[in-house]
Amino acid sequence: MAKAHPDAVLTGLDLDGQAVAAARERLPGADIRQADFIEADESLPHASFDLVITNPPYVRTQVLGAAAAARLAARFGLKGRIDLTHPFVAMAPDLLRPGGVLALLCSNRFLTTRAGVNVRGLLSERLAVREVFDLGDTRLFEAAVLPAIVVAVKGAQGVARFASAYEVPQEAPEGDLYAALTGQDDTVVRFGARTFAVSVGTLARGAPEQPWRLTNPDRDRRHAHVRSRTWRTLGELARIRVGIKTTADPVFIGDRWDTLPPEHSPEPELLRPLLTHHDVRAWLPPRPPRTQVLYPYLDLPTRTVVDLSAHPRAAAYLGLHRARLEGRRYLRAAGREWFEIWVPQRPSMWREPKIVFPDISPEPRFTVDRSGAVVNGDCYWISVPELVAPGVTCDDLANLVVGVANSAFGARFYDEVCGNRLYAGRRRWITQYVGLLPLPDPTTAAAREVIEAVGSLTAGDHGQLPRLERAVRAAFGEL
Ligand SMILES: C[S@@+](CC[C@H](N)C(=O)[O-])C[C@H]1O[C@@H](n2cnc3c(N)ncnc32)[C@H](O)[C@@H]1O
Repeated sequence: MAKAHPDAVLTGLDLDGQAVAAARERLPGADIRQADFIEADESLPHASFDLVITNPPYVRTQVLGAAAAARLAARFGLKGRIDLTHPFVAMAPDLLRPGGVLALLCSNRFLTTRAGVNVRGLLSERLAVREVFDLGDTRLFEAAVLPAIVVAVKGAQGVARFASAYEVPQEAPEGDLYAALTGQDDTVVRFGARTFAVSVGTLARGAPEQPWRLTNPDRDRRHAHVRSRTWRTLGELARIRVGIKTTADPVFIGDRWDTLPPEHSPEPELLRPLLTHHDVRAWLPPRPPRTQVLYPYLDLPTRTVVDLSAHPRAAAYLGLHRARLEGRRYLRAAGREWFEIWVPQRPSMWREPKIVFPDISPEPRFTVDRSGAVVNGDCYWISVPELVAPGVTCDDLANLVVGVANSAFGARFYDEVCGNRLYAGRRRWITQYVGLLPLPDPTTAAAREVIEAVGSLTAGDHGQLPRLERAVRAAFGEL
């Protein structure tokens, strides 16, 4: 740029001495300062820059510290979870002249996460987004996070272009990824050793609380059609809960309880099988879990801790770890016992059948567990008896949910509404999007067919998969 615009006045800031030295070498004549950008507000001329290019640090509140996060929140009017990207984006509109451009390279998480509300809000209310590139798992940059690029102007709102690239497990001719990302049509291209599905369209966004999505006329039509065939969404039908969170896993969770000395070996009635993402697979019941959790609660609908004096060996074992467990001061602050787990969920619900799915997995892995196991915090679960609708059993409803969620239709729908994928095609099954999964009217013939196919698949008849896929498509009128 310095070469193309020899008269351009370049100002650069970085905290890091090496980065500053490298920039000075590359951009002789530019004003490169080793300084804190967030504190440099006063020393930079407001409303004067034609272009602000930033690849801000991505440092989360936990690392930032609560006090620093609170200060930034107050100064920049930010809410919820703050990361360092937010103040960088918040400062850009003040620095730009009218018509000036912000080019932002940051983590793509802001597009879809709740914590992204600050960036989505700033980019919508103080700037006008022109282009968004979700570079997904292309690894075009060396970064620990998946990157996105946003180009926004300080000017009037208009339609914003949206392009995304995610790796897919298929073959395709070698192509130009940049041309595909800036082109007109969805394409699949091989780039190096990997193949990417490139989607192009426009940015669909509502209030800042809503995620940003890519849309195009084809998708809009399809989603409108699916909506017209939707009886209820999963979120309307069911409550999706996360598994337990102990906040002291090495104390509460283990697969070698039997190796403890007898006097410290917790009573068997307090050790419960614990399903983790290792055990959960699509269709088939989960594998018998290897791990067990020391679960110090009575089998009641509400959280009621056991009387430790009635379980002397568990008491002795927990006593060994008392200092560590008491270090969790938030438990005490919440008026709870030192030997509790942080999120135990509803103790008596574990005995009931439940739909379980892992938090992170490349493919949908929804299944029904009838073993009574506890579910770990790396999975989500839905209690089957809570699925209620006239004229249908809760077991049939569970099969309908599992059938749609595990189908190719379900995975595609999820990708299109959620759009957030991790490396190597792994998806994060975020409950707010899983809750949007459409379900067809369970009393229709096509839905009955889905329910029956799921019955066979869960009994191990994998040959029923084509029937299931056909039935799900038919239930949504996709023939
Ligand atoms: C994601 S890296 C950018 C890397 C750069 N694009 C490159 O390719 O080398 C973020 C940069 O922001 C700098 N940084 C972090 N906090 C800063 C602050 N408050 N003010 C200025 N620079 C900061 C870091 O030193 C780091 O160089």
